[in-house]
Amino acid sequence: MHMSIKIGIVGATGYTGVELLRLLAQHPEAEIITVTSRSTAGTTLSDYFPSLRGIYDHLIFQHPDQADLSKCDLVFFATPNGVAMHEAPLLLTQGIKVIDLSADYRIKDVAVWQKWYPFTHASPEWITKAVYGLAELNRTAITQAQLVANPGCYPTCVSLPLLPLLQQQCLIHDMPLIADCKSGVSGAGRKANTGNLFAECSDNFKAYGISGHRHLPEIRQTLNLLQPSSGNSLVFVPHLTPLIRGMHATIYIQVKEGCNPYQLIADYYQSSPFVDVMPAGSAPETRSVRGANLCRISIQPAPQNNTWIILSVIDNLVKGAAGQAVQNMNIMFGFDEKSGLNLIPLLP
Ligand SMILES: NC(=O)c1ccc[n+]([C@@H]2O[C@H](COP(=O)([O-])OP(=O)(O)OC[C@H]3O[C@@H](n4cnc5c(N)ncnc54)[C@H](OP(=O)(O)O)[C@@H]3O)[C@@H](O)[C@H]2O)c1
Repeated sequence: MHMSIKIGIVGATGYTGVELLRLLAQHPEAEIITVTSRSTAGTTLSDYFPSLRGIYDHLIFQHPDQADLSKCDLVFFATPNGVAMHEAPLLLTQGIKVIDLSADYRIKDVAVWQKWYPFTHASPEWITKAVYGLAELNRTAITQAQLVANPGCYPTCVSLPLLPLLQQQCLIHDMPLIADCKSGVSGAGRKANTGNLFAECSDNFKAYGISGHRHLPEIRQTLNLLQPSSGNSLVFVPHLTPLIRGMHATIYIQVKEGCNPYQLIADYYQSSPFVDVMPAGSAPETRSVRGANLCRISIQPAPQNNTWIILSVIDNLVKGAAGQAVQNMNIMFGFDEKSGLNLIPLLP
């Protein structure tokens, strides 16, 4: 018999919240005891999400102000930016572990965070204690973490293929490092927003956040940590695609003489359960990772000297959010890292 941990999800009606519910339903060590929502407080979860009928029939959404999270071993915050920074510290001081899917604890420099997010940080003392939850970079630190700052979707998609190159100081300084990225519409969350209406974003394609997207300082932080100043050369342009799930990054890099990016990335991820380095010449598709906690990467040389093209795909809601959060939970609690995450992508 398995020992299970008791889990609360704050913001369980959003896209990452319902994805956590889907993934944790098949996790042998997870028992969800509390789910919160302000707008649907009092509603039975399986009435609200018929996709989960028969699985969580006992759960009723509670208003976050009334929900008792003190019996939880772990609380996920699947809430907009600016919520966890107020609510998490009380739980943390009670010894409860927290995984925050928002950006509240991701940026180590609070002044930088405040420049990009329109709040004064409510609990900066927890920023230094938070571990950035990119398991492929910080696995050891995550085992000891009480608070994990789950990475953003674009930062996951862009950083994963670059980690091995940065660790080897492989990138040429002073050359632009270009990340041309595309996201499905679920990346913007479930809240109503005109720009995300079917008639606005289906059969359409556009760039956004060109002058500066919030994920830029987050990606820069990871790059600079591993290869000083490399983040400063990052050019990051996100695009909105008419997909529901999916994220694609095309990254153009310039490497130092003698560096073989394909070999370095393939070696680094040889035994990594959630990163798949594909054969040379392949073009990973977003549908090849849909619904699964996977990043698939392809690396190929460009005709120009020392220029390489990296293609990276994830499901923004899984490896880009809820799946990565469950992966972090597994590492924090000493479970098999793959527990609950043996998912096969859904096709077509
Ligand atoms: N969508 C993605 O692909 C993705 C990827 C990576 C990271 N993230 C991050 O993950 C977080 C959640 O994203 P999402 O896409 O799931 O958002 P969402 O679909 O808009 O859901 C937000 C959830 O939080 C609740 N909520 C909103 N304001 C709240 C407040 N002030 N206090 C307590 N609960 C509140 C909402 O329910 P009520 O309004 O009923 O309370 C809802 O359940 C965000 O910080 C987002 O940036 C999202």
